[in-house]
Amino acid sequence: RLLRDLVGLEIELSRQLNLRKVIIIPGDSEIDRAVRRELGRATAGVLGQYLTDQMVVAVSGGSTMAKVAEAINFSFPATTVVPARGGLGEVVEYQANTIAAVMAGKLGGRYRMLHIPDGVNEETLEAILDGDTNLRAVAEMIKHADILVHGIGEAAEMAERRGVPPETFAKIERCGAVGEALGQYCALPGKIVHVTSSIGLRLDDLAGIGTVIAVAGGSAKAKAILAVVGAGGQDVLVTDEAAAKAIQLLI
Ligand code: G3H
Repeated sequence: RLLRDLVGLEIELSRQLNLRKVIIIPGDSEIDRAVRRELGRATAGVLGQYLTDQMVVAVSGGSTMAKVAEAINFSFPATTVVPARGGLGEVVEYQANTIAAVMAGKLGGRYRMLHIPDGVNEETLEAILDGDTNLRAVAEMIKHADILVHGIGEAAEMAERRGVPPETFAKIERCGAVGEALGQYCALPGKIVHVTSSIGLRLDDLAGIGTVIAVAGGSAKAKAILAVVGAGGQDVLVTDEAAAKAIQLLI
């Protein structure tokens, strides 16, 4: 019965959020580690469905994405995994570079790293890119990835976790940001209100990416998911029952 209800909710949410597909895992990943693992496993499964030969997969950072990488149990050696963005001041296990390397290891594929932190000003980023053809090549690969898999976080929590300067924190709060993805902070119903500078992907680049898979669970992330998905660009959302039901109450 629960599974039947969730299938109905998946169909309804995909229509309401204008997504190709929504996948809902039973339970609440915020309080149940097994559900968190399951969220990772389901997302890894979705990635497996979209992978074909010689693809470039871009990945974001975060603890949920770490679970996705961990859960990969199939090989796809012709894949290249790249970080979607540079470092965002998180612990190393949750940085996109690390997740790209772990995922590539599981797939038996290759990875390319982006050794440049986000948050560096645009002129400096341009100057670094001009002096490093290897880095420019990686930046190009990221912008034209075949698949992007990214997490979604609550704005204030992510800003705090990444140690953004107090003035940026104040701006994020003032603008009503509730969600964050790819270093970009979004307010409801789907407005980008703060962008962390990066040579990596931005939410407004997503139209150029083949398939975009977002993953996030827990009722506390309901507004964050709505705001980020409202900003557009995602094709598939993998979430849990707690988040899906909380989203329904907000729509
Ligand atoms: O950008 C958002 C974060 O990747 C979400 O991080 O999965 O640790 O909550 P989390």
